[in-house]
Amino acid sequence: MISRSTIDQVFETARVEEVIGDFVQLKKAGSNFKGLSPFTDERSPSFMVSPVKQIWKDFSSGKGGNVVAFLMEHEHFTYPEAIKYLANKYGIEIEETEQTNEEKEQANERESLYLVSEFAKDYFHTTLLKSEEGKAIGLSYFKERGFTEDTIKKFQLGYSPNSWDAFTTEAIKKGYKLEFLEKTGLTIVKEEKQFDRFKGRVLFPILSMSGRTLGFGGRILTNDKKAAKYLNSPESDIYHKSKVLYGIFHAKQAIAKEDNCYLVEGYTDVIQFSQTGIHNVVSSSGTALTEEQIRLVNRLTKNITLLFDGDAAGLRASLRGVDLILEQGMNVKICTFPEGEDPDSFARKNSLEELTLYLEENARDFINFKAAVLVDETKNDPVKKADTIRDMVVSISKIPDVIKREIYVQECSRIMDISEEVLFNSLAQILSKNKKEQAKSASKNTEKPFEVLSQQSQPTEKIDVKFQLEMKIIELLLLYGGDEELFEDLILHTNEDGEVTLLPEKKELKVHQKVFLDLQQDEMEFTNPVFQELFNSIIANYQNETPLQTESFIAQLEFEKAKIITDIFMEEEKYHLHDWERKEIYVKDKKQSISQLLNETILHLRKLLIARQINSLANEINQKEEEAKQELLQTILEYKKLEVMLSRKLETVIRRFD
Ligand code: CTP
Ligand code: MN
Repeated sequence: MISRSTIDQVFETARVEEVIGDFVQLKKAGSNFKGLSPFTDERSPSFMVSPVKQIWKDFSSGKGGNVVAFLMEHEHFTYPEAIKYLANKYGIEIEETEQTNEEKEQANERESLYLVSEFAKDYFHTTLLKSEEGKAIGLSYFKERGFTEDTIKKFQLGYSPNSWDAFTTEAIKKGYKLEFLEKTGLTIVKEEKQFDRFKGRVLFPILSMSGRTLGFGGRILTNDKKAAKYLNSPESDIYHKSKVLYGIFHAKQAIAKEDNCYLVEGYTDVIQFSQTGIHNVVSSSGTALTEEQIRLVNRLTKNITLLFDGDAAGLRASLRGVDLILEQGMNVKICTFPEGEDPDSFARKNSLEELTLYLEENARDFINFKAAVLVDETKNDPVKKADTIRDMVVSISKIPDVIKREIYVQECSRIMDISEEVLFNSLAQILSKNKKEQAKSASKNTEKPFEVLSQQSQPTEKIDVKFQLEMKIIELLLLYGGDEELFEDLILHTNEDGEVTLLPEKKELKVHQKVFLDLQQDEMEFTNPVFQELFNSIIANYQNETPLQTESFIAQLEFEKAKIITDIFMEEEKYHLHDWERKEIYVKDKKQSISQLLNETILHLRKLLIARQINSLANEINQKEEEAKQELLQTILEYKKLEVMLSRKLETVIRRFD
């Protein structure tokens, strides 16, 4: 956990205008700075930064908050990642606290693994660019592949000298411990001897979402049939093959902005695409796509386009990834390249315009793609055709959205020339089988039905709405703060004609992150000071990445706050028991209910608080000088717009889940 004093120091030191200035071009405007929104494609600037208040507000997307909220929104950092980024930028030493010795040791060990990997990355990169051997062998290889110097620097490509222990010796000389060199797999230790794992290979560093070095892929340069073409870092405490995507660090912003992610198979595919000018691309590094990898992308967009080599070997197997993507409620398209080409070679031969056009014209929806490939394989064979159709229906059954499922059934019926009725029957069979399996596993852990919670506190007397809403947020934070939920956010889009629409965007977030970011958007504080303090301590607790320990959390609170918390937990128990009788009435999926309830509650609260803000600004206006008056008026206007937008969102949210 990062200590309170480190966090405080970070907030004291960091200047919001400096931090944002690294990402957005800001111009002075009165006492503020203005710029183009980094979250939407706008032409006139509505992104404001206030150096006095140390906050920012993006009036076109409604986002806003302090410096940490900016990094979380823009860089998709978690809270601790944002604090670490700032500490690093401002040279603040990070103090960790409140860990058991064991935890400390573990954290230290992980940190040591990161450090040694970071060192290795720099060493290999420098060796590639500066040493005679690196230049003659590694650099010339990359250049031959068509990589420019800028690309090589951007992806921090490297070279490991072709000698048994050149790297290891240098690392030890620099004070890195053999223990960590071995644990990251950079060094192989055999009895008394040590060997460089990547000896004589060119290297592709694999970075995390936030840019830390996790491991390496090393390509051999000789035609040695016995040695593997690529050698990768082994699994370690920091490198889990199934949880990383090569290129995600460089691609994340483009993925969010383009609202699509290209998924390729190899390191060089990513690099060549990026060099050609398509940046929203990542690679699963030759392994079968995993759920965790898809979830990484799901944080940024709900659209994935799979790109496959022309030689189609193992295509059928790769198609399994399609179902995994559909399962997460995402959309998937597939595009193949001409015979003998992979994304790398194709991008190299074509201009950005040609490549873009090719992708546009050849990316096909999964159902059409399956039809084309599988039908090709099974021409005139009725048995195989039946298999193909079943295969498609299985994929369709993975889609959580009922309407989408129906559309695909119609599509499948049209393409495969089979009646919708038969398809629906077969779909129903699969679904009911899935449900039975789910029920079996669900009956083992008694689900907490959530719906009843929203029924509590019947308004018998005139109630304070704000108080209720704030209480509800505290309650949701306490009960579900650590849960990951799929949230549907409504994002403002302005089309060519200036028409404004709200489009849903799904994002997987922890409940406490969602609450934190949403409230930050309007620089809102709870009106009830006790709730505000509780909110601060609950958020601080979660943000340090620990699950909330109810007992010790309550123990540290003053009496009044402890009572609120205890009441919340007791209510929950009561309703949980109470619910037994009416169990069958509330069959709604718990998951959806939480995110819906939270969205609704927060939107209500934001709306109330904004109205309040507008009121207080309006009161201020008479005491201002003429120039300040204009500025204030402008701000009020912007808030009015926001208020209207929030009303629309609220209506939409309520309607969508009715
Ligand atoms: N791969 C691997 N180990 C291997 C072969 C491949 O880890 N022995 C992974 C690498 O991440 C590689 C990806 O699978 O980038 C795709 O493999 P392949 O298509 O064979 O390699 P390319 O990326 O096309 O590499 P190159 O063009 O350098 O041959
Ligand atoms: Mn290749």
